[in-house]
Amino acid sequence: MPAFVVIGGQWGDEGKGRMVDLLAQDASIIARYSAGDNAGHTIINHMGKFALHLVPAGIFYPEKLCLIGNGVVINPAVLLDEIHQLEERGVSTKNLFVSDRAQVLLPYHQVLDELEERARGDAAIGTTKRGVGPAFVDKIARRGIRMADLLEPDALRARLEQVLPEKNAVLVKLYDAEPLEFEELFDAFVEFGCELKPYVRDTSSIVRDAIDNGEQVLLEGAQGSLLDVDAGTYPFVTSSAPSPLAAGAPVGIGIGPTQIERVVGVYKAYMTRVGAGPMPTELDDETGDILRREGPAPEFGATTGRPRRCGWFDGVASRYSVRVNGVTGAALTRLDVLDNFPAIEVCSAYELDGNQIDSFPPTMTQLSRVRPVFEEHEGWQAATADVRKFDDLPKQAQSYVKRIEELLGCPIEMVSVGPEREQIIIR
Ligand code: GDP
Ligand code: IMO
Ligand code: MG
Repeated sequence: MPAFVVIGGQWGDEGKGRMVDLLAQDASIIARYSAGDNAGHTIINHMGKFALHLVPAGIFYPEKLCLIGNGVVINPAVLLDEIHQLEERGVSTKNLFVSDRAQVLLPYHQVLDELEERARGDAAIGTTKRGVGPAFVDKIARRGIRMADLLEPDALRARLEQVLPEKNAVLVKLYDAEPLEFEELFDAFVEFGCELKPYVRDTSSIVRDAIDNGEQVLLEGAQGSLLDVDAGTYPFVTSSAPSPLAAGAPVGIGIGPTQIERVVGVYKAYMTRVGAGPMPTELDDETGDILRREGPAPEFGATTGRPRRCGWFDGVASRYSVRVNGVTGAALTRLDVLDNFPAIEVCSAYELDGNQIDSFPPTMTQLSRVRPVFEEHEGWQAATADVRKFDDLPKQAQSYVKRIEELLGCPIEMVSVGPEREQIIIR
């Protein structure tokens, strides 16, 4: 059973990209299984600093196959731009392939993302406005266009003839916006089809063949578990289908769940969130601001540049995500960000309406009412960036990691102490 999954255990931006960049060493195929270019994965290695949105973070290993699976939504312009930028910087994309079944993001998805957000007013979700939510809605509503359609102009024309009038009716009648012109859209996407044709493959069968040959396949998650439509902080979630959870990985790649032997959950040593929705341990004060700005990679979104909301580690939410994903081992990232704090708080339970609970509430009204129960840990006030062995971490940092391990209920196998590939402690 040679497939393993890397997922985000919190609200995204846990450092999945940097972990995949490291763990790709153990795999011959690295495959993205969900989301779209709403994801932003930052990688710093011997080739430089990169922010990837669609291309898997295994791309820096020229001999490995990188696949964008059927579960991903593709904005062709963004993908082509990412490919060109990588090539310009000397990163080969000759082993990058895109699923023929992947959905295509069209310009009306982006327009609708913007308009729907505006219409939500105070209840806006704070989406990335990349159009990814509306594209997944169309996928499930059976109005989507797939990569394979771009390669067959007749098929594309037939699909667009069905879909575009409906989309234009929504734009014009509901939002008083401009309609999109058919031939212009058609021509642009036929052209995208020509440019992307060399990359399009039946990626699922590539993965199945590799698994049959006993090769290791890394399934790269995007977004965070608490943004999942089912498990997350609904309605302040993303619309990915398949889910960003580990359970979405086999669907988004085209293999069976029995092929997955390991689920690596990536967790930050504290919490962040971009966009709206409850966040029990959020620090809307100077401490939150220090968490945001401390260290070599301040907390600003890799996709939108928005400041990330910051707060102390939430043991309730994080343990919940270990359980819904079946995480077998965790990676704890950004420990170095806590280096200078004299004291560090950890949320080990919630108080809801006077009762202490350790479960993650299902409704936003309940989650907005919970108060975190904090325990205080002594800070280590020493630099950890150069530490490579767990036993060489300051004692207080070791006990902090061990306490988080207890709260998660799974082993912490890796701890990162800086954004670069080598800044990792493997236990
Ligand atoms: P992803 O979406 O899960 O791949 O995460 P992002 O790349 O969006 O955000 C994680 C940020 O943390 C990036 O800026 C990384 O370079 C940075 N990062 C990852 N690991 C560490 C670490 O151990 N220490 C520090 N200081 N930064 C890290
Ligand atoms: P990575 O892969 C952080 C959040 C948005 C918003 C909500 C819905 O980098 O961890 P969407 O555009 O998906 O409809 O927005 O989900 N969001 C993310 N937050 N990291 C991400 O991806 C995210 N992808 C979506 O901020 O709150
Ligand atoms: Mg990110």
